Amino acid sequence: MIILQTDQLSIAFGGVRAIDGVNLAIESGQVYSIIGPNGSGKTTLFNLVSGIYTPDDGSIRLAGEAVTGLAPDQLARRGLSRTFQNLQIFSRMSVLENVMVGRHRHERTGIFADLFHWPSVARQNQATVEAARAALARVDLADSASRPAGSLAYGALKRLEIARALASEPTLLLLDEPAAGCNPVETEEIDGVIRSIVKDGITVVLVEHDMRLVMNISSRIHVLASGRTLTEGTPEQVRSNVAVVQAYLGIHGSQESNRAFH
Ligand SMILES: Nc1ncnc2c1ncn2[C@@H]1O[C@H](COP(=O)(O)OP(=O)(O)OP(=O)(O)O)[C@@H](O)[C@H]1O
Ligand SMILES: [Mg+2]
Repeated sequence: MIILQTDQLSIAFGGVRAIDGVNLAIESGQVYSIIGPNGSGKTTLFNLVSGIYTPDDGSIRLAGEAVTGLAPDQLARRGLSRTFQNLQIFSRMSVLENVMVGRHRHERTGIFADLFHWPSVARQNQATVEAARAALARVDLADSASRPAGSLAYGALKRLEIARALASEPTLLLLDEPAAGCNPVETEEIDGVIRSIVKDGITVVLVEHDMRLVMNISSRIHVLASGRTLTEGTPEQVRSNVAVVQAYLGIHGSQESNRAFH
């Protein structure tokens, strides 16, 4: 099944065509990566798909249903969740509380129930705590639940972000540079977390600069350059595409290209 599809998706900021006619067709149950140089539109594509931006042109389908123009919370209710490129951690809150923030969309009691402390609220709080604990277990942070988030090492904070996105029980998870700034050991841990998420049936769309991670974990890779699709295919197909190598050589210098393609 195609879980996420875009057709000629486009948005411009001033004169800059940040995303320009991008077509995605992402099969469920896999890791699908989006790569490209800095400023090529990867985060903008996530912002479009997750409802933060409304496209100027084109359409978006989630599990076959037209969702273009829906707000982030409406998309969250349909099973889409994401992380952000920059850490969004409340460092003085506990690790568990940071994850509970992500359960928002499952909470259905209104303000009156809250005011009068109806039993439904207590039940729901319990469900929220349990879901948050389950999400922490999936990223290997169960033992850190009651610690202040600010006391975690960097790699653990990156996993905490993933746990928060998992707490809403998504079917489609967008990860914007989950391994950015991580050392090789931390990147390996993120790799393991992503693999176990996919094993549980969640589709992962991955934006990441670490080419070793991308090449190892992805079923397919979509390459953007200046908001447009440069190429799309299996890791092998993308690796052997000369235009991709040149795009990286031109903009990133040879180091990233070498890691990516050799
Ligand atoms: N809200 C906005 N207003 C104006 N310009 C924007 C906005 N969002 C993105 N852009 C522009 O769109 C282009 C794509 O940016 P985007 O952040 O999507 O790139 P990226 O591929 O995620 O880069 P990086 O790898 O550095 O994270 C850039 O030129 C950026 O300046
Ligand atoms: Mg980005």
